[in-house]
Amino acid sequence: MPVITSIADLKRIYHRRVPKMFYDYAESGSWTEQTFRENTSDFSKIYLRQRVAVDMDGRSTASQMIGQDVAMPVGLAPVGLTGMQHADGEIKAARAAGKFGVPYTLSTMSICSIEDVAENTDAPFWMQVYTLKDDDFMQRLFDRAKAAKCSAAMITVDLQVLGQRHKDLKNGLSAPPKLTPASVANMMTKVHWGLGMLGTKRRFFGNIVGHAKGVTDPSSLSTWTSEAFDPSLNWDRIREFRKMWDGPLIIKGIMDPRDAREALNVGADAIIVSNHGGRQLDGALSAIRALPAILDAVGDKIEVHIDSGIRTGQDVLKALAMGAKGTYIGRAYVYGLGAMGEAGVTRALEVIHKELDVSMALCGRRDVRTLDRDILMIPEGFEGRWQA
Ligand SMILES: Cc1cc2nc3c(=O)[nH]c(=O)nc-3n(C[C@H](O)[C@H](O)[C@H](O)COP(=O)(O)O)c2cc1C
Repeated sequence: MPVITSIADLKRIYHRRVPKMFYDYAESGSWTEQTFRENTSDFSKIYLRQRVAVDMDGRSTASQMIGQDVAMPVGLAPVGLTGMQHADGEIKAARAAGKFGVPYTLSTMSICSIEDVAENTDAPFWMQVYTLKDDDFMQRLFDRAKAAKCSAAMITVDLQVLGQRHKDLKNGLSAPPKLTPASVANMMTKVHWGLGMLGTKRRFFGNIVGHAKGVTDPSSLSTWTSEAFDPSLNWDRIREFRKMWDGPLIIKGIMDPRDAREALNVGADAIIVSNHGGRQLDGALSAIRALPAILDAVGDKIEVHIDSGIRTGQDVLKALAMGAKGTYIGRAYVYGLGAMGEAGVTRALEVIHKELDVSMALCGRRDVRTLDRDILMIPEGFEGRWQA
């Protein structure tokens, strides 16, 4: 096994190990992928202030997200179909996060079910919930999360309608994967992945099959999915979801100060500035450019977190110094998972942690909880601000 020193290293191994259909699914953004690309490239437009001869001893990356202790303020974002990137992927990722001391968020569209992840892990995890039409299903999803002792719910509000990713349509993405001559030929070359999949029964959407009305087997699932999402979603409806869950609540997918104020009024404990990793509105601002205006609007009243584009600990450092109280990685841990299972997710977290810790030190800072804009040089015009 080569020496792994970066997320880019994990990505290279990931490409070798995971079938094309699933790495295309993770790697893609919507349409031209402008927002997907800028999510990452915009981080490199912000400069960090190097300081020397400042006491850098006794540093700490420990913090809190929604009042829960974290070893560093970097959670694992909800990622659908994680169990297709690696056999039992959700359980593996949740275990790695639990041991590292950071939150793991299970997607509604996971392969392993809520109950399955709870049974096979020790640390409490967070449950991501999509805003679906079926009230009974929604209430049961929250109830199941409660029964599984999930310590927070995360409602994703940016998927009323689905952005288009060209490759997924061309690949006929599905779980379990559709077997065409091309996909079978590709999978045959992914021996580790194939053996893992043969060795597990977890190959369908575990939170849906057997739980949603009329979905008793995988063949009825695609019809359900195409009708389940609610294009008529509004804030009153989100308020109803809030009543279904009495624990800590995070609202994910906020890109506009107006929506941030609405989320605050719903009674959320935190919001995530996120454009779904560039998978929804192509042409939207990168998340890091959208962050300052949202912080100005609600930052003193609610915890503001961010995801989309984070690939390094330096990115985390910049987001925290700008004012975010928490960050999340999506693809960065999926690369680790596909490359090496649980050990790969652990490696991804170690890489990001080291980059965060050492870069913070080189900025002359010792505590992630007291970072501020003083260590950043942000180019003029960088901050995305809409006219009121
Ligand atoms: C393959 C993939 C699947 C995703 N599935 C979900 C999901 O089921 N629910 C959700 O709220 N967000 C989902 N997201 C968005 C992530 O939670 C997160 O916002 C995004 O990955 C952050 O960007 P990054 O990958 O650049 O870190 C998904 C992202 C990816 C890449």
